[in-house]
Amino acid sequence: MPRILHPRDAIVRVTRSCICGSDIHLYNGLIPDTRVGSTFGHEFTGVVEEVGPEVENLKLGDAVIVPFNIACGQCQFCKQGLYGNCHESNAQATAVGGIFGYSHTAGGYDGGQAEYVRVPYADFGPMLIPEEMDLDDAVLLTDVVPTGYQAAEMAGIQLGDTVLIFGAGPIGIMAARCAWLFGAGRVIVIDWIHYRLEFVRSYGPAEAYDYRQIDDMAVFIKKITDGLGADVCIDAVGADASGNALHTLFGKMIPIEAGSAIALHWAINSVKKGGIVSIVGVYGPTGNMIPIGNVVNKGLTIRANQAAVKRLLPRLIEHVQAGQIDPKALITHRVPLDDIADAYHIFAAKLDNCIKPVLLPNRR
Ligand SMILES: NC(=O)c1ccc[n+]([C@@H]2O[C@H](COP(=O)([O-])OP(=O)(O)OC[C@H]3O[C@@H](n4cnc5c(N)ncnc54)[C@H](O)[C@@H]3O)[C@@H](O)[C@H]2O)c1
Ligand SMILES: [Zn+2]
Ligand SMILES: [Zn+2]
Repeated sequence: MPRILHPRDAIVRVTRSCICGSDIHLYNGLIPDTRVGSTFGHEFTGVVEEVGPEVENLKLGDAVIVPFNIACGQCQFCKQGLYGNCHESNAQATAVGGIFGYSHTAGGYDGGQAEYVRVPYADFGPMLIPEEMDLDDAVLLTDVVPTGYQAAEMAGIQLGDTVLIFGAGPIGIMAARCAWLFGAGRVIVIDWIHYRLEFVRSYGPAEAYDYRQIDDMAVFIKKITDGLGADVCIDAVGADASGNALHTLFGKMIPIEAGSAIALHWAINSVKKGGIVSIVGVYGPTGNMIPIGNVVNKGLTIRANQAAVKRLLPRLIEHVQAGQIDPKALITHRVPLDDIADAYHIFAAKLDNCIKPVLLPNRR
């Protein structure tokens, strides 16, 4: 049972939480300093049970969306809206800010795959869940929707652009949906898991291809575009990418690079000269083998970050309320917290047509 440690803390009783592709990197040991005994989980909604003396905007019983980033709201980076890069919430604040349940490289905070969570800076981060909003929609607003949306935003999509997305997990699917909101003219998604390709074809909507049927990604993309490549590419895969034996060996088995970077290779090589590559796929802090020469010689712009959830929430709540985004359609599994081990197995191994598992509080 967590306790208030700082006057800006709140204790939240979890009402919904999720397992994310980011948790798979922890689960597979790709994120350094993941300590035994720490609680995972950065996507959760809850009810406020207790507040510290400086938290004036929340009261007991409030139902809240808790952004996955832990952000103070006051430092130089928070003032820029870079809530994923808060300078106060992570003692190792060289890069990422604090994230719930995401190893000591992200601050060592316990996360939301639990019954209760301590929420730091509770006077800043959490947002009230609109009364009529379904909890299943609300919990996907803590990460999946903002991350997919920011992937599309960082890609700088211009009207009519061809957007190429690697990964048809929850993040790639949501990026495909959001690309249209930014004016995309064509959306193409690459993965190898057929039920996910099928899902994104209708949900995006998008054209979707199995990379195992493609010999050379850049050549294939040129063939199906105007011969020049996609206008923008999004990496929604990250460190656990499959599809290349060398990267799997060096990134995941030995590992001497911070995960397999093959999806990022494909993105860099498949985008047009002068194009933008937007990276939301997560990589560890050490090095990766990236074709940086191609980035320079093609004149590419690379944009990347952890999503700044708090910045995007107001407009995304409007999109959900207006029916332009249907987050809960991604939920395929509803699992009691007690059975979380099964949910990890199913989600990580992509079994049983799983797209997004939601964890429900234990029956009490
Ligand atoms: N930046 C952020 O704020 C943020 C937030 C949430 C998730 N993420 C990251 O986004 C990524 C995706 O998350 P998710 O929940 O959708 O995960 P996921 O594991 O469910 O989905 C990843 C998908 O990529 C596919 N894939 C594997 N190798 C591929 C390749 N070479 N080319 C194309 N597709 C390939 C997999 O089959 C899978 O369907 C993860 O790296 C996660 O850590 C980032
Ligand atoms: Zn997540
Ligand atoms: Zn800050």
